[in-house]
This record gives sequence, structure tokens and C-alpha cells, in this order.
Amino acid sequence: MKAFLSNQKMSLLLRSFCFLFLVSSFLNTFVSSTQHLCHSDQQDALLEFKSEFSIQKPDWVDPDGSSYPKTESWVNRSDCCSWDGITCDATSGKVIGLDLSSSHLKGQLKSNSSLFRLRDLRDLNLARNNFNDSQFPAEFDKLMELKRLNLSGSSLSGQIPINLLQLTKLVSLDLSSYDSLSIDESFLHLLAQNLRNLRELDMSYVNISSEIPHEFSNLRSLRLLDLTNCNLSGEFPSSVLLIPSLESIRLSYNSNMRGNLPVFRENNSLVELTVMFTAFSGKIPFSLGNLSHLSILDLSRNNFVGEIPSSIGNLKQLTVFDVSDNKLNGNLPVSILNLTQLRRLWLSSNQFTGFLPPNISQFSKLESIDAGDNSFTGAILSSLLKIPSLTKIYLSYNDFNDFIGIGNISLFLPNLQVFFIHNKNYNKVIGPGVDFNVFSPLKQLYWLSLSGIPLSTTNITSDLDFLPKLARLFLRGCNITEFPEFIRNRRKLQWLDLSNNKIKGQVPDWLWRLPKLSEVNLSNNSLSGFNGSSKVSPESQISNVDLSSNAFQGPLFIPSSKDLNYFWGSKNNFTGEIPRSVCGLSSLAVLDLSNNNLNGSIPRCLETLVMSSLSDLNLRNNKLSGILPEIFQNAKSLTTLDFSHNRLEGKMPASLVDCSALEVLNVGSNTFNDIFPFHLNSLQKLQVLVIRSNKFHGTLHNSDGVWFGFPQLKIIDVSHNDFFGTLPSHYFLNWTAMSSKSDDNIEPEYITGPSGNYFSLVLMSKGVSMEMERILTIFTAIDFSGNQLNGPIPDSIGLLKELRILNMSSNAFTGHIPSTLANLTNLESLDLSQNKISGEIPSELGTLSSLEVINVSHNQLVGSIPQGTQFQRQNCSSYEGNPGLNGPSLKDVCRDIKTPTPPQSELMESKEEEEEESFSWMAADLGFAPGVVFGLVMGYIAVSYKHEWFMKRFGRNKQQSIRTR
Ligand SMILES: *[C@@H]1O[C@H](CO)[C@@H](O)[C@H](O)[C@H]1NC(C)=O
Ligand SMILES: *[C@@H]1O[C@H](CO)[C@@H](O)[C@H](O)[C@H]1NC(C)=O
Ligand SMILES: *[C@@H]1O[C@H](CO)[C@@H](O)[C@H](O)[C@H]1NC(C)=O
Ligand SMILES: *[C@@H]1O[C@H](CO)[C@@H](O)[C@H](O)[C@H]1NC(C)=O
Repeated sequence: MKAFLSNQKMSLLLRSFCFLFLVSSFLNTFVSSTQHLCHSDQQDALLEFKSEFSIQKPDWVDPDGSSYPKTESWVNRSDCCSWDGITCDATSGKVIGLDLSSSHLKGQLKSNSSLFRLRDLRDLNLARNNFNDSQFPAEFDKLMELKRLNLSGSSLSGQIPINLLQLTKLVSLDLSSYDSLSIDESFLHLLAQNLRNLRELDMSYVNISSEIPHEFSNLRSLRLLDLTNCNLSGEFPSSVLLIPSLESIRLSYNSNMRGNLPVFRENNSLVELTVMFTAFSGKIPFSLGNLSHLSILDLSRNNFVGEIPSSIGNLKQLTVFDVSDNKLNGNLPVSILNLTQLRRLWLSSNQFTGFLPPNISQFSKLESIDAGDNSFTGAILSSLLKIPSLTKIYLSYNDFNDFIGIGNISLFLPNLQVFFIHNKNYNKVIGPGVDFNVFSPLKQLYWLSLSGIPLSTTNITSDLDFLPKLARLFLRGCNITEFPEFIRNRRKLQWLDLSNNKIKGQVPDWLWRLPKLSEVNLSNNSLSGFNGSSKVSPESQISNVDLSSNAFQGPLFIPSSKDLNYFWGSKNNFTGEIPRSVCGLSSLAVLDLSNNNLNGSIPRCLETLVMSSLSDLNLRNNKLSGILPEIFQNAKSLTTLDFSHNRLEGKMPASLVDCSALEVLNVGSNTFNDIFPFHLNSLQKLQVLVIRSNKFHGTLHNSDGVWFGFPQLKIIDVSHNDFFGTLPSHYFLNWTAMSSKSDDNIEPEYITGPSGNYFSLVLMSKGVSMEMERILTIFTAIDFSGNQLNGPIPDSIGLLKELRILNMSSNAFTGHIPSTLANLTNLESLDLSQNKISGEIPSELGTLSSLEVINVSHNQLVGSIPQGTQFQRQNCSSYEGNPGLNGPSLKDVCRDIKTPTPPQSELMESKEEEEEESFSWMAADLGFAPGVVFGLVMGYIAVSYKHEWFMKRFGRNKQQSIRTR
């Protein structure tokens, strides 16, 4: 400073300083001689208040330096009006302001605190201290002069006392807390009545757990209303949104609160409207265009429908526009291009169609765009890729078919951090693929997904300098044929998805030594082996590895990472025994080695895994032999166990009864030799029990014959064993999960393990064994076929209202078809063939409209078949071998060769959104048109069961949770 000033100017400055000093000290003396300084009683109260707390530096980082222990400057000798955080009234000298926000105070704020002696306080800010969960003191009502009260984030707890609302002068009230504050029912009503002067009300994170009363719209001075995450319910009164003075309203994270946007008038003041993750619905009104001051509009994660109104173009101040996760549709209005201040444009997870606006580069300040998970078509615009401010681009899951613009990406977007495309229309891509080298100048890029775009990865440098920040690389389905060598030096790489390519050869061993790598998906390639050992570096963080559906052979390869959590090795040709080293992977939750050629016995040491972390164990379809050892004594977290299609023998381990979390048990197609595992009926969560095709024997009912148990059982398959005996007439009494009506309002889901992976199953229906790769939770089935059961089919079968598949074929059942079957209104498949059932087909069964597959062949039935019903849509073979069965309707059936149309079961709809569909079933004995099976099965099966999981982990959900809001 001095260097720039001449001496002359310097002395001038000094003189004026001296003058100012004199004037001010004169004034000070004058004022203090006429009035007191700080009143001594107030000074004492303040000092006492200070002593009520200790000073403890908080553990959070203070970004702006405003956090420091302000009371440390408070000492008795000096005038309290000069202390840090104190404001005194200029004339009376009374303490009217106390700002101790972020002052490191720690201790209880007690109801006898000397704070409440400072009766002249108008302004009190105790935000961000640690009152150590003290109960909210009731004594604030003594501070009758308070206009501003700020207790934000100060670790008070309990109910906010209602007498706080006697402070009728309040204009600003901040009770936002991350703690455990709540209010009672009457609080908000009284607040709206008493605090008519309120301009700011922040109660975010207070557990309100009721609805906002209509009286709130009487708060005519309100500017800020923050009710984020208040556990609100009911309907939000839209009149509140029309308070003319309102500038900011935040209602996010109240997922039980319904609401609509009102007709907005002109002359409003709204600058921010944030309604994320509530249950708002209806259309976005055209009058939204009247909010001419609006800068932030966040309507994401709601149920809004319809189109974005063209009036959106009036919102010239808009910087944030987020409508993601709604049910909006239509094209984007062209007027959206008027929003030239826009920094964030998020449209993802709606049903938008059409093109992105062609002049999109008019968004010259845009920093992030998310158009993912819509049905936008056309090209990824070169225009978009010319906005230099862009750092994040998410365009996944659309119908784009031209990616030409990407070639120039690095010319204009040097600051790009995220470029996320997941093309769902791989086959429709026009033009050449993308040369991976175009990304090499993007030094800031940390997340790159080009899934579904044909890619050329040859001649790529593996320089250290190539994409130095890359942490997530998703190249799923990019037509890659060789393991990309350039990955070798990506030291920051965490997630790698190379699935669904055509990569051949060996997995390089450097992969397992990338220091940050945690999730690797190499599934669905043609990889055949591993170069080097499965040793990982000691600090390895590898947690998820998917090697499934490749051509791996030889001994099982599992990276020996201590963090390994999920391992899929299914659908390969791994041979040899299950290595004992698996048992040392102490974090393993999912181990899927199904569909390989593993042999030897099941290692006893798996007991250690079962005891600790393991929840899903799938060893299906290998050549494992020997007994199933008693390893389940402490298996508290196991939910699915699949040993089916092996060569296991002996008895079922008694310790299975300890698997209290077990939902799915499949030991089908082995050579177990045991009686029915009645003891498992204590497993409260067991939903699926499959023991088909073994040597189980004895009866299917307990010796006491009373209680079958299995409260949650939905699928039971005991077919193709040696069970015999009759079923008592009350046999199906208390099969609760199949007999209680499910809630129609709950959308069916697939049965999943805790990791979100689907459980799959092979089930037999009418001689066709079908592999269900997913099972809906509403799916129910009973398969008793292929045993020697005799006597009548119990009438109590009619109690199982939720049953969808019933197979009693190939037994020795006698008696009549129970007419109670007519109660099973969800039944889709009924197979009673190859028994000795006599009498007529009960005409009541004609009412079963969801019945698609019927087989009663090879019995001793007589009479005619119910006319004009599903029975007539069957093939003739469904009835053959019943010499007494005749009548005109049967003649109709047997005259035409039927090609049944696939049924429109409600179960089928839920899978229409699936992006890929595949199903597999093996026709063992095609007794009827495949169309029927197809239709029946389609509802329950879909793509490979891990797929969805990886989409969740690697795809859209991750994308949404990880990007910063
Ligand atoms: C804070 O609360 C804890 C637990 O209630 C108690 O142990 C501790 O003494 C309290 N600290 C202060 C400074 O009041
Ligand atoms: C407040 O009451 C507690 C007992 O609950 C007592 O220990 C403390 O001294 C009192 N403080 C004041 C400032 O009177
Ligand atoms: C309350 O105080 C905190 C910390 O000083 C501040 O960030 C917040 O804006 C204040 N609340 C109101 C409504 O002024
Ligand atoms: C909020 O309060 C309600 C009703 O008092 C209670 O049931 C609920 O558990 C509370 N929620 C939280 C997160 O404390």
C-alpha cells in the first residue's frame, strides 16, 4: 500500500483518520456518560450463560471461517455490548441481539438457563451448537420481544413446546434440525394463527408427521417456507403456493404428501419451488409461465403427468429445471430454448419423445444435462456437444440412433467430467461406430459410459496420461473383441463393465492389481481363461466380480480379495473341486457357481462363510456329489440355497432348520433319500421349497396329521419322488400364503435375495419343464406329480385362492375332481392327468377364466366338458384316454386343431418395460401348442437374473444416486 502512495496523500489520509477517531471517541464518551453501558444484570446473565457450556470444536469442517468460540472474548472487565455476538440497543443499552451461531458450545440448554433472563432479546441465533440432545426448553416464551429465533442444527431434542407460539412478534423462525425434534398435532394450527408476521419459517427435518393445515395460507408475509423432510402427509394446501410474498418454498422428501400445482397468478414473487420426492401429481399448469422470477424449479420424483407447457419459455431467470422421475410425456416445447440462464436441465426417467431441440447450444451456461431414460430419438446433437460450460452429460436409455456428433466431443468440452450414454437400440445404430480415441483429450473425465455403441478400441494408447481421472468405465455391448489394454494404467478405475461384448482370450492379471478397482463385470463374453494368478494386491478393494456366461474352463478362479462381496461364475465350464480357499473370503454374500462342471463334494468349511456373511449360495447344475454336510447351524443370513441338478445323496441336513432367514430352498434333481423335511415348517420365511426328482419317500403329511406349517410357502414342488398315501381332507387348511388374498394394489415384484439378485427355478408344468429366471412374489404353485399318492384330492384345495399352478398328475388319485377348485380364480394351469379320477368334470370349473392350460387326460372321467369356457380352448389331447368322456362340446374341441393365443395375464404386463427379453424352457414332452406354454411362462421369466442387478448398480439407479444434487 505504502509503495503506491505519495507522502502527501499519506499525511492527508492520516489526518482524516485522526479526525474520525476523535469524533468517535467523543461520541462514545458522551453516550456512555448519559446512559449505562451494558446493564450489569444482563452482563451477569451472559457470563452465567457462558459458564453453562463447555467449548468443543465440532467435527465438521467450517467452510467460511464463521465457526469459532465467540464466548471466549467475554470477560467481566469489559463492556458486554462490545463482546462478540452481542448487540445492544443504542439508546437503552439493553442486550437485544445475541448471535452465538457456530460457537462450539457444548452442554445442556436447561430450562433454568440464564439465557431466559435476557428479556429484551429481539434477535437470538444459537444455530449450530451442540446442546447435547437437551429437551427443547419451554422457557423461550419468556423472551416476548423476540423477532428472530434461530435454533437450527443445535442438537435440541424432544417435542417443541407449544408455548413457543406465544412469541407473536416473530418474523423469522428457524427450527431446522438434523436431530429428533417433533411437534404435536395442534402446533401448526396455532402457529398459523399466532405468528401472523412470519416471513421465514424453516422447520426442515422436524418430524411433523401430520398434514399442513389450510390456515397456513393466512401467513401473508411469508417469504421462505422450508418443510424439507418433515414426514408430512395428507394433501398440501395449494393456496399456500399462492401467497403473494412467497419467494422460496421447499417441500422435498415428504413422500407421503400429495399435492397439485395451482393456477399461478401474475405478480407473484416465487424464486424457488422445490418439491422433490413428494407425491405431487397432476399436470404442470400452463400458468407456471407466470412465475417470472423463478430461478429454481425442482419437481423431480413425483407423479406429474402430461407435457411441459410451452409457457415454460417465459421463465427467463430459470437456472435449475429438474423434472426427472415423473410421468411426463410429449415433445419438449421449442420455447424451452428461451431459458438461456439454465445451468441444470434434468429430464430423466419420463416418457418424453421426439428430438432434443436442434439449437440446444443456446443453453450457453448449461453445466449438466440429464435426458436419460426417455424415448428421445434421432441423433446425439453436435449442437449439444458445443456448450463449453457442460461438465456432465447423461443421455442413457433413449432411442438415439446416430452418434456421429461424438467424434468432435473433445473440441468443445474440455471440462467434461461425466459422459453417460447407454444405448438401448444397439441394432439400430446408423453410421460407423465411435473411435475411442476421441475421448483422449478429456483430462477431467471420471465417468464414461458408451454402452450399446459400437466402438473401436484398437490403437489406443495405454499412456498414464490417457483419461487420468477415469474412475468408472462402462462399455457394455460395444462390440469389443479384445480385452482393452488401455485399461492397464488407469490407476483410479473403480468400476469396470465390459459385459456383453465379444472379448476372447484371457483376462489379464494386471486387472486384479488395479489399486482402486471394486466392481468388475465381464459377463457375456467369450473369455476362456486367466493370465497369471488370482492374487490381488493386499490393499485390493475388489468387491463385486461377474464372470458369468463366458467360456472359462479349468479350475475355478476367484480373486482373493478380502472385500469380495458378490461373485458370479455361473454358465462357464469351470471344472475340478470347489477350492477350499473360497471359505476364507469372509465378506462373501453371494456365491453363484451354477451351471459349471464342478465336481467333488461340498466343502465342509463353507460353514465359516455360512456363519458370517453368506446370503445366497447357488451351486446348481454341476456334478457335485456326496452328502450335503451339516453346515447350517449358525446360518442366520442365508436366504437362498440352490443345490439342484447335482449328484448329492443321503439325508437332508437337520441343521437347515437353523436358517431362520431362508426364503428359497432348492435341492431338486439329486439323489437325496429321505422323508419329507417336515421339520423345516418352522422356517417363517420359506417361500419356495423344491425337492423334485430325488428319492424322497413316505407320506406328505405329518404323523399327527394336523398342521402342515410353512407359513410363507408359495411354491412347493415334490414331484418325481416316491411319496405315497392319501392326503387328509383338511390337508390344505392353513396354507396361509396361498390362501390369503394378496393386496391387488401392491405391484408384484420378483423374489430377490437381499443383494437384489433374482432367484431362478426350473418348474414342471404339464410335461414341459420351464426355467424361470425370475419368480414373481405373487407366483404360487403346487406340484405333487409323479408320485404314488392315492385317495381323493382333498376338497380343502379350494381354500388356496391364490394358487396359479396345480399339478397332481401321474399319481393314483381316485374320487371326483373337487368342485371347490372353482374357488381358485387365479388358477392358470391345472394338470390332473394320469390318475384314476372318475365322475364328471364339475361344471363350476367353467367359471375359471384365467385357466389357460388344462389336462385331465388318462383318467376315468365321464360326461361332457363344460361348454363355452376355457375348457373348449384346449387341445383334444387334454381329454384323451377318458373313454367315458363325450358330448358335443368335446367333439368341437377335437374337430378343430387349436392354436391358442397366448393369454393376457396381468403378470405379463409387468415385464413389458424390460429392455431385453429372453426365456428358456426345455420341451420334454410337448403335449400341446408351445404358444400356451410361452404365454404362461412369459409372466414369470425374463432376462438373466443378474442383469437387473447390474443395471441397478452400474446403470441408472447408481447414476441417480451418485450425481450430486
Ligand atoms: C452429553 O450427553 C451425554 C449422554 O447423555 C452425557 O454422558 C454427557 O455428559 C453430556 N455432556 C455434556 C457436556 O453435557
Ligand atoms: C439449574 O438447575 C440445575 C438442577 O437441575 C442446577 O444444578 C443448576 O445450578 C441450575 N442453574 C442455574 C443457572 O440456576
Ligand atoms: C440460521 O442460522 C444459520 C447459521 O448462521 C444460517 O445459515 C441460517 O440461514 C439461519 N436461518 C435463517 C432463517 O435465517
Ligand atoms: C415421527 O413421528 C411419528 C409419530 O410420532 C413416529 O411414528 C415416527 O417414528 C417418527 N419418525 C422418526 C423418523 O422419528
